[in-house]
Amino acid sequence: MGRKKLIAGNWKMNGSLAANAALMGELLAGIGQPACDVAVCVPAVYLAQVQLLLAGQGGIALGAQDVSQHESGAYTGDVSAAMLKELGARYVIVGHSERRQYQGETDAQVAVKAQRALAAGLTPIVCVGETLREREQGETESVVSRQLSAVIQLNGERLADLVVAYEPVWAIGTGRTATPEQAQTVHAALRALLAAADLQAAGVRILYGGSMNAGNAAELLAQPDIDGGLIGGASLKARDFLKIIETAS
Ligand code: G3P
Repeated sequence: MGRKKLIAGNWKMNGSLAANAALMGELLAGIGQPACDVAVCVPAVYLAQVQLLLAGQGGIALGAQDVSQHESGAYTGDVSAAMLKELGARYVIVGHSERRQYQGETDAQVAVKAQRALAAGLTPIVCVGETLREREQGETESVVSRQLSAVIQLNGERLADLVVAYEPVWAIGTGRTATPEQAQTVHAALRALLAAADLQAAGVRILYGGSMNAGNAAELLAQPDIDGGLIGGASLKARDFLKIIETAS
């Protein structure tokens, strides 16, 4: 099935007004007309700035890195899906391993966040991935299946509107990228899980994340079930990010 690739940058907690303007200026000057979808997922405090920088061009979509599990109310510090939508976000990352690790986000909370995003008209990028210990113990597929199943159970009628990202925790920020074969194996398992839940979900894009860079993007993106990338460090360097976008086009 021809799934249009998506390359999404995850800036994580990086940037400044000046650095953002410089990076976005380079990206917009160099992006041309890519044959893939492109997004930048920025810290919430920079959504308004980047929305203005993106105004009037069609090549790059705006994304956020998290969303509240609540619709609105007394949740100090949270940002609602409606607020992200109002600021022009199209995508929102949910369940990133760093939030699961440092903020204790559970599978159930991630499922609710995906539901909130969908209800507001956002596209959730649902992150799943195993730790090195889980991989070494042969638990990879059971872990990612458990994580994704929680989202499927709560959002069964909207699966076609999801994006999934497989991010092996041991590959994030380490420079130790999963091999194309390792990644493809897990992507195929995730694809089967989605298709079993809803045949329409066979078209859901499954991104790879975890030290994807300009040097290894081609071999990863050549895999039949890898539909793009969720890029951390390499998305903060315009030349590298543009090279990955070119590779996916
Ligand atoms: O969300 C993407 C991120 O976790 C991957 O980070 O720096 O390994 O590309 P990085």
